[in-house]
Amino acid sequence: MTSEREKRNASQVSPSESWVDEAWRRALEKTLTNAKRIGAGFPHASEGGRYGLAEPEWWTAGFWPGMLGLLYSGSGEEELARLAGECEERLDSVLDGFVRLDHDLGFMWTLTSVASYKRSGSEASRIRALKAANYLAGRFNLKGGFLRAWNPWHEGDRNTGLAIIDCCMNVSLLFWASRTSGDPRYAHVAEAHMDTVVKHFVRADGSVYHVVLFDPITGERQEALGGQGYAPESAWSRGTAWALYGLTLAYHHTGKADYLEAAQRVANFFLSRLPDDLIPAWDFRAPLELQELRDSSAGACAASGLLLLADKGGEEDGHVYRRMGERLLQALDERCGSWNDAQEEGLLKHGTSHYPEQRNLDVPLIYGDYFFVEGLARLKGIGPIPWE
Ligand code: GLY
Repeated sequence: MTSEREKRNASQVSPSESWVDEAWRRALEKTLTNAKRIGAGFPHASEGGRYGLAEPEWWTAGFWPGMLGLLYSGSGEEELARLAGECEERLDSVLDGFVRLDHDLGFMWTLTSVASYKRSGSEASRIRALKAANYLAGRFNLKGGFLRAWNPWHEGDRNTGLAIIDCCMNVSLLFWASRTSGDPRYAHVAEAHMDTVVKHFVRADGSVYHVVLFDPITGERQEALGGQGYAPESAWSRGTAWALYGLTLAYHHTGKADYLEAAQRVANFFLSRLPDDLIPAWDFRAPLELQELRDSSAGACAASGLLLLADKGGEEDGHVYRRMGERLLQALDERCGSWNDAQEEGLLKHGTSHYPEQRNLDVPLIYGDYFFVEGLARLKGIGPIPWE
C-alpha cells in the first residue's frame, strides 16, 4: 500500500531533490566504509576522526544499527542489515541482564528490534521489543504520572523522582507495544507521561525543561534542574528537539490535540532561535559567547521531527515546517557534513553531547548522524521510520 508520504513525494518533485540524493549517496558511502571497522560495535562520539565504541548498555547503542537499517532499506546492501541484526543480538545480554536498563530502553529497542520487526516481521525482534516495553512501562510512577529517569548508579543517589524530556522519544516503544499486542495499557502509560510533559516541562514560550524532580511518594512537582543545559531556566537545544519530535510522535500515535499544539509551540520556539547558518547553539539561552558552540545533533533531530510535523497540522503551517526541515538538513549537509574529510568517520561534525560535564564538545555524535540519515530517508520516502 502506498503511504501518504510516498504519494506526496511522487506528486511533488522538489527542486532540491538532487542535493538529497547526493547527501544520501555520501552518507551511504561513508557508512559502508565505517562498517568495515566498526562492524557490530556501538559508536558514540568521534574523537580525532574515529568513533569511540561504547559498551552495549550505553543509551546510544541503538543509533548505529538504526542507521544501518535505514541505509539498508534505501540501498539493499545486505551487509548493513546483517550488522544491524548482530548489534540487536549483542543487546540481548543488556536486556536479560536487567540491572543496567533505564528510561532509554525506548531509544535502544525502537531503533533495533522494532525497526527489525517492521522491516522483516521477525518474531524474535518483536519479543525483544515487547520485553523492553514491559521494562519501560514498569518505570512508571503512578502518583506523579511520569516515567522515572536513571537508576541509583552511585551509593546514596536519591533519584527516584526524576523525569526527563528525552523520554518524549522513549515512549514510542510503548505506543508500538500497544499496537502490536492489542493491549492498551502501554499506550495509557505513554499518554500519562506525555500529559505530564505538556503540563510540567513545556513552557508557555515553547522552550522546555530538561529535568524535573517530583516527590516520588506524593507525585508533587518539586523543582526543575539544569541537566545537560546551561541552567534550569535555559533552553538546551537537543532537549528542545527531543520535545519537538516526541510530542509530534505522541500526536501521530494518539491524535490528541494537546500534543499537536505543544509540538507546534516547541517547533516555533526552536525555529525562532536558529542563527543565520541554521546550526543550533547547544543551548539557546546560554550566554552569547557560549552559543558559538553548536549542536548539529539537535538540528538533525529537529529536522526529522519537523518533516513529520509538516504532515500533521494545517496546510500552511505544514508547508513552513516541511521547508524548514529540508533547509535544516541542507544546512547540516553543507556546513557540518564531513564529506571532504576521508579521515573522519562521523557524518556530521559540530555536535555537543554534554556541555556541563565538558564531554564530547564540537564532535560528530552517532545520534546526529542517525537523525540526519532519518531526515533524508523521510525526504526520499524510504522507510519504515522506527518511531512511527
Ligand atoms: N541524555 C541524552 C542526550 O544526551 O540527549
